[in-house]
Amino acid sequence: MDQIYIQGGVALHGTVKSSGAKNAALPLLAASILADGPVVYHRIPHLLDVTTMMTLLSWQGADVTYDDQHRLHIDTRSADKPEAPYELVKTMRASSLVLGPVVARFGHAKVSLPGGCAIGARPIDLHLRGLEAMGATVQMDHGDVVVDAPGGLHGAQIDFPQVTVTGTENLMMAAVLAKGTTVLENAAREPEVVNLADALRSLGADIEGDGTSRIVIRGVERISGGEIHTIADRIETATYLAAGMITGGDVTVTHTDPSLLTAFLEKVEEAGAVVECTNDSIRCRVDGRLRACDIQTMPHPGFPTDLQAQFMALMCVAEGHSVIAETIFENRFMHVQELLRMGAKVHLDGHLATVHGVAQLAGAPVMATDLRASASLVLAGLAAQGETILSRVYHIDRGYERIEEKLGRLGARIERRSEAGHGDRGVMLYA
Ligand code: EPZ
Repeated sequence: MDQIYIQGGVALHGTVKSSGAKNAALPLLAASILADGPVVYHRIPHLLDVTTMMTLLSWQGADVTYDDQHRLHIDTRSADKPEAPYELVKTMRASSLVLGPVVARFGHAKVSLPGGCAIGARPIDLHLRGLEAMGATVQMDHGDVVVDAPGGLHGAQIDFPQVTVTGTENLMMAAVLAKGTTVLENAAREPEVVNLADALRSLGADIEGDGTSRIVIRGVERISGGEIHTIADRIETATYLAAGMITGGDVTVTHTDPSLLTAFLEKVEEAGAVVECTNDSIRCRVDGRLRACDIQTMPHPGFPTDLQAQFMALMCVAEGHSVIAETIFENRFMHVQELLRMGAKVHLDGHLATVHGVAQLAGAPVMATDLRASASLVLAGLAAQGETILSRVYHIDRGYERIEEKLGRLGARIERRSEAGHGDRGVMLYA
């Protein structure tokens, strides 16, 4: 397994381009199952999770190819396997996003029940209850969820007891070809949900209300192929802006969208960062030291849970103490034990973390446990004095495209090595 080596203490400066959003790309790719024609995708990021979704679609019988302009072409008209096997689902729980489209198209689905992950149990009970409301039967079969709707799905009124992003996406896709109208109440308002709705509308779906907590989908006979554009990755964007702030540098992210990050930008401004935005770029810098401030993670448009770990890294070196409340997942403080190894002062009490900022972190060998925890450890390593060695780097590769290359171009002293410890296999030692 690879490791990332960081020599910290260098202020990062420069410009980095945002990739397409992982959490938009995954449902967008699943939506190809509904299309009665080829779909061309722009700005799909090259990430492990995306590769897994492409592998799953190919396994189902779809034709999946890249062209020489890095556009992804998916034609699912030849797909004939309405299933998602355990060996694929266990590597990426978001494979459950094929449930809604597969049932809508084939009237049947057999998808391995996704296990939990480091940050929580991650059940999909709300997805399944929604499909039952639309007329499907749901049974468990040796670890697989078997969903049947031989007469097709029908519209339904679905009230989510709590906001679920992929639950909203799954049921929105299921409703596109259902007979009648489906209303999703307390729906997720994330930008990735809006990206999916925009894409489905461009293929012929009848959807309104996306971006609000009430989405109405009127079923249609079929939707065609077409071209789909992925929005910028707001979590990646904020992570690189945080890399500039935590090192006392000055970083601009381009090809992004400031309107996707309102809650995060308000918080870093409250902490003393200087933020400058254009319609497709964001620049953040810090004069002196950040001031501690509190956050509480919430569904969009609140502060994103996917930025909680990164923000905690910022607060570890801020002036004062901050209280971080994680309200979405039950175990999303796995990065804390590793940050403590670097000299951070964090106290945990249930879903609250109290961070007392220190003037300086110290580099150390640390272990990645989940995708966003890994990002917070990279940020801490960039700010720390000395060397940080991050193991289990595959976690970070699930959500960040070429992270050491992008950080290296901002001046970071960072390199990826194989576990053997040799900087070989053509790995470049960036600045
Ligand atoms: C999506 O996960 C994202 N993943 C996550 O990003 C993100 O953290 C999360 O939304 C919250 O914003 C993708 O979009 C692929 P949820 P999702 O359903 O949809 C509970 C990352 O780092 N719940 O909104 O799985 C659940 O346990 C990843 O990029 C149920 O109880 O999250 C959680 O406590 C991590 N039953 C809460 O709801 C259900 O049926 C929110 O989960 C569904 C969810």
